[in-house]
Amino acid sequence: MSTSLMMRQSAHALRPIVGLGLRPAVMSVRCISGTTQRQKTLYESDIPPSKGPSTALKPGVRQREEAQHVKVVGSEAKGSEGPHPHERNPQTSVALDDLHGNWTMMNPIYTEAELDAVQVVGRPPVSASDKIAHGSVKLLRRLFDFFTGYKDKPIPAAVLAENPPSIESIQALRRNGTLLSDKAWLLRIILLESIAGVPGMVGGTLRHLRSLRLLRRDGGWIHTLLEEAENERMHLLTFMTIAQPTIFTRALVLAAQGVFYNAFFLTYLVSPKSAHRFVGALEEEAVRTYTHCIHDVERGLVPEWTGKPAPSIAVDYWRLQPSATLLDVIRAVRADEATHRFVNHSLADLDQKHDFNPFALGEASAEIRGSKYGFTREESAEFARDTKRRLSEDTKSSNVLESPSL
Ligand SMILES: [Fe+2]
Ligand SMILES: [Fe+2]
Repeated sequence: MSTSLMMRQSAHALRPIVGLGLRPAVMSVRCISGTTQRQKTLYESDIPPSKGPSTALKPGVRQREEAQHVKVVGSEAKGSEGPHPHERNPQTSVALDDLHGNWTMMNPIYTEAELDAVQVVGRPPVSASDKIAHGSVKLLRRLFDFFTGYKDKPIPAAVLAENPPSIESIQALRRNGTLLSDKAWLLRIILLESIAGVPGMVGGTLRHLRSLRLLRRDGGWIHTLLEEAENERMHLLTFMTIAQPTIFTRALVLAAQGVFYNAFFLTYLVSPKSAHRFVGALEEEAVRTYTHCIHDVERGLVPEWTGKPAPSIAVDYWRLQPSATLLDVIRAVRADEATHRFVNHSLADLDQKHDFNPFALGEASAEIRGSKYGFTREESAEFARDTKRRLSEDTKSSNVLESPSL
């Protein structure tokens, strides 16, 4: 047996240990002669060296990583979240070259009419837990507004009449706090999105563990919740391609995530209904914020973003036209937030232990999601019945079409 084969087999035998996290990925591998020759990466022989694309979004980090000949598995796979296929370097094709597919669970696609259908709507709190959930969101919003300098003040009519407003007028409004600058918007959005990606993952994780623990079906909730978490993460990654967060922003994200993840985890354990209601209320505020942002961009009040091209990650994820602008992206993000608002308020109305997820088989239309804050439990039941009936009819008609003629 050759030395290299022996080394590979030794390395192979150690893989389960690495999988358990008991050893670092780089370790000494003893060859056939019994001497430790050098430090060697276990998978070194399996993966060709690649000057592969980095997943980092910060240009400095990205360039540094790309300059290193690191081993990258599957870097050529197409995916809206990963390297864009156009960035592919033909010199680095490896075995996974034929592996194509999305790295994301879904790609929301909207028509113009669906984007226009989004409205700022709010569910009035009814029960005591609703009031606590709404009160918590309002309190968080005030704190958040204070830290990010956000003020929902009306823009003077004289400035709007300038059409487009002059740079001097915009700077004066920014100085007195009436307008947010592009950088202030990005700070606010990045903080918001880094928090917004937590609830779906917590809910999905806890329901997954419950299903394993109790040996019960989940009823289709997990997938929807994980999709939501992923969708929020895509929002964050999209805006991260525009902003280069400072160490201060990163520290804020770290602190906010540490506190919020644990607080939401405990809330979901104690009362998942309240947790979904809280997210529904939080998403109401997200729709409100993005609506404000869209109005500002449309009126030329954020001149840095006027006609700014959409990041390629967003074009890929939302399947936008190549000529899409950042404004198109923000409108798509707002439609996503309206979906989260609708889904979470609807889920909060359900029996958390026994009800199935009404959106497991199909989503409500984008118009409904954009204009209604949620379904009542009865509406959810009716929607699930309708979806099932429609799917059965579709299946029957496709069977008829596919059956051979006699
Ligand atoms: Fe979001
Ligand atoms: Fe959201």
